[in-house]
Amino acid sequence: MKYGYFDDKAREYVITRPDTPLPWINYLGSQEYFGLISNTSGGYSFYKDARLRRLTRYRYNNAPLDMGGRYIYMRDNASADFWSPSWMPVRRDVDEYTCRHGMGYTTIASKHSGIHVQTRTFVPLNETLEIWEVTVTNQRETPADLSLFSAIEFCLWDANDDATNFQRNYSIGQVEIVDEVIYHKTEYRERRDHFAYFACSEPLAGYDTQREIFLGAYRGWDSPLVVEKGQSGDSEAHGWQPIGSHHVQLSLKPGEHKKIIILLGYHENPKDDKFDPPGSQIVNKRTVKPIIAKYLNPANVEAAFVELFDSWTALLAKYQVVSPDEHVNRMVNIWNAYQCMVTFNMSRSASYFESGIGRGMGFRDSNQDLLGFVHMIPERARERILDLAATQLKSGGAFHQYQPLTKRGNNEVGTGFNDDPAWLVLGVAAYVKESGDWSILDAPVQYENEPGSETPLYEHLQRALQYTLDRRGPNNLPLIGRADWNDCLNLNCFSDTPGQSFQTTVGKDGTVAESVFIAGLFVLACKEMLGIVDGYKLNVLGDKPASFNVQPSTFYVNAAADMEKTVWAAGWDGEWFKRAYDDFGRPVGSKENAEGKIFIEPQGICILAGLGIDNGNAVKALDSVETYLATPHGIVLQNPAYTQYYLELGEISSYPPGYKENAGIFCHTNPWIMLAEAKAGRADKAFSYYKRICPSAREEISDVHRCEPYVYAQMIAGKDAPTHGEAKNSWLSGTAAWNYVAITQGILGIKPAYNGLEVAPMLPSDWSGCEVVRQFRGVRYEVTIKRSGPGNTVRLEVDGQPVAGNIIPLPVDGVKTVKVNVSVG
Ligand code: GLC
Ligand code: GLC
Repeated sequence: MKYGYFDDKAREYVITRPDTPLPWINYLGSQEYFGLISNTSGGYSFYKDARLRRLTRYRYNNAPLDMGGRYIYMRDNASADFWSPSWMPVRRDVDEYTCRHGMGYTTIASKHSGIHVQTRTFVPLNETLEIWEVTVTNQRETPADLSLFSAIEFCLWDANDDATNFQRNYSIGQVEIVDEVIYHKTEYRERRDHFAYFACSEPLAGYDTQREIFLGAYRGWDSPLVVEKGQSGDSEAHGWQPIGSHHVQLSLKPGEHKKIIILLGYHENPKDDKFDPPGSQIVNKRTVKPIIAKYLNPANVEAAFVELFDSWTALLAKYQVVSPDEHVNRMVNIWNAYQCMVTFNMSRSASYFESGIGRGMGFRDSNQDLLGFVHMIPERARERILDLAATQLKSGGAFHQYQPLTKRGNNEVGTGFNDDPAWLVLGVAAYVKESGDWSILDAPVQYENEPGSETPLYEHLQRALQYTLDRRGPNNLPLIGRADWNDCLNLNCFSDTPGQSFQTTVGKDGTVAESVFIAGLFVLACKEMLGIVDGYKLNVLGDKPASFNVQPSTFYVNAAADMEKTVWAAGWDGEWFKRAYDDFGRPVGSKENAEGKIFIEPQGICILAGLGIDNGNAVKALDSVETYLATPHGIVLQNPAYTQYYLELGEISSYPPGYKENAGIFCHTNPWIMLAEAKAGRADKAFSYYKRICPSAREEISDVHRCEPYVYAQMIAGKDAPTHGEAKNSWLSGTAAWNYVAITQGILGIKPAYNGLEVAPMLPSDWSGCEVVRQFRGVRYEVTIKRSGPGNTVRLEVDGQPVAGNIIPLPVDGVKTVKVNVSVG
């Protein structure tokens, strides 16, 4: 069953009924100002940091689930009938409902008793505001006398404090109302130099800023008293719950329409020019008024929308494919790339499953997110890499998370996730391959954001790898620390007290439990490091002496070889790679275990690192994955699921069987298997796994899948779960980036290399070919791939000339388009 359809031409998903199984959301903004918006206009907005600078309130886990957002109420003044054009929160029947989620905008339209209302919401590029462009059309044969009420609830900035510290918060709310603008200025009188504004293009018949006056005592957002009566309270908030609501009167002739623009924005004033007049307590509005005036003008709004739309055309143009599979085309050309932008921006901070309070930017998460984003805006990936590296410790370890507003490592979570540092090498390698910008390796970067501690980024990478070498256990495998990629495999925690954090409570000294996953990741990172060493010497150091001891490339060759040997000695179980060793030195993810015999992660990462390709063990491991882990809905994380809590394993066994890390289909890991299958030469298997979790390919079973059909979810319930096939935690997941890498680089096979564009397709056997346009380092590559036989051997012809190998060399300066014919057989 479906709840809408893809409009690929418009790059939109069109939802055709408001009561989707879960709120189906979209994101607004992609630089500093962000918003989440659901198909019924729920959601909230924030500036840079969903925790520290939240503009509007949102109550998670509410009933109904999605209550609170950017609301418009319409009232027919003749009949006193009122409704929400976005269906929620009033939930009166609406006809012709559509919600079009596009790239950075959402348009919700519906009709009720002959009145059509459409609201297009977006954040203009380079601005810290959102625009609601509301068009009301009278489709009746008679004149209509209408009232429109807007409504938002302000958050008192720190979302955590806002949701807990009521004894203070109920007394501090402050607003100013001037002309058609409501200014929210709580705490501006003291240490803040920022405020929010809520402006309207029309003369107001009234306004409200005190929630209980607008709603009426003991009423909810579904039946505000002011809307019922048709008259605002003109309330001014002093403490309690400040809101913003405009009231606009409309008289529309038959067929007439009216456009109303509403702005919600964030603005900062210079610290010494906060008040106007100086010495007063009145917000200086001189600096914000020109911005408000600009966007209350419909022509400027349209121009800003076109600019946003065109910017997405340019971003998506970096990789476009025409293949025989519509799901591949749609996901690669539109939605998967879009989700990669969102995960790059948000990390795991703010979604309908992530409260925006709990987590900032993750070190391992962000490094992986940029794998799917770097080709769109390499400059932003560069900045992110430098921010991440600055939260590294001198030991090479890393803060697990940082807050985007302060860019400082988060002390509550701390460090000691022993896989973290190695991901930095993967992130940097991807960036340099994409951009050719070797200079990043020379950029001075602090440790722990400590001024004076700077070394070239390159040294951060060396320390990152040394970190693994310095922390090894009884089998010589890397020690796992608090956890590795699997945050829930807490082999040193031994937590028996409810409420303890599995990640930060450490009961054991951590000198025994080891991770085969980190071993595989380390080998992969060492292999990536080899290209970086050579390029650094050639392009950055030249004849200059380095300011630190630069390890020769043989160091990484040997380190990788040693680690591989260790994996074969201690990490191979006979039919698959083991997962880990626990604090008692017993294997995890082995046939010796009663439960959790085989895990997906080491199969994926070890084979990606090249292990087992030559000796046949890769295929053996992948066959085991197929036998024990694969389902029609994707590949589960491990099997058999843990049926009880194991003190020595931690959070993984805290989840009921089939959910999350306990044998859920943790989608992030599935593309590792796709890539491993591609590496092992088994294209059809790679593609089959791709399709199983592909959101678009699951659209038909939206009533089972339940999350949005246009983006990946972190998890689909596994075969041990009663709700097998049901997705959760959509949007913010490493799944986005890794699937993008799997399909664009592993299967379609177009991947950036240091010295050119590599072509190594692993196309499904029933494809006759495909066409890819890839923009790479300023050149447009038009690649036509044709299958000439059943194999995977590549023959390249570049601008009509045969080229040996499978790397398209960089063209001479000035060449802007390169035509490539690829024959695969
Ligand atoms: C979540 C975390 C990620 C972790 C994964 C597995 O997606 O954000 O860092 O690797 O869970 O536990
Ligand atoms: C990951 C896991 C989640 C766990 C969290 C802890 O996000 O998916 O289950 O609670 O890590 O940080």
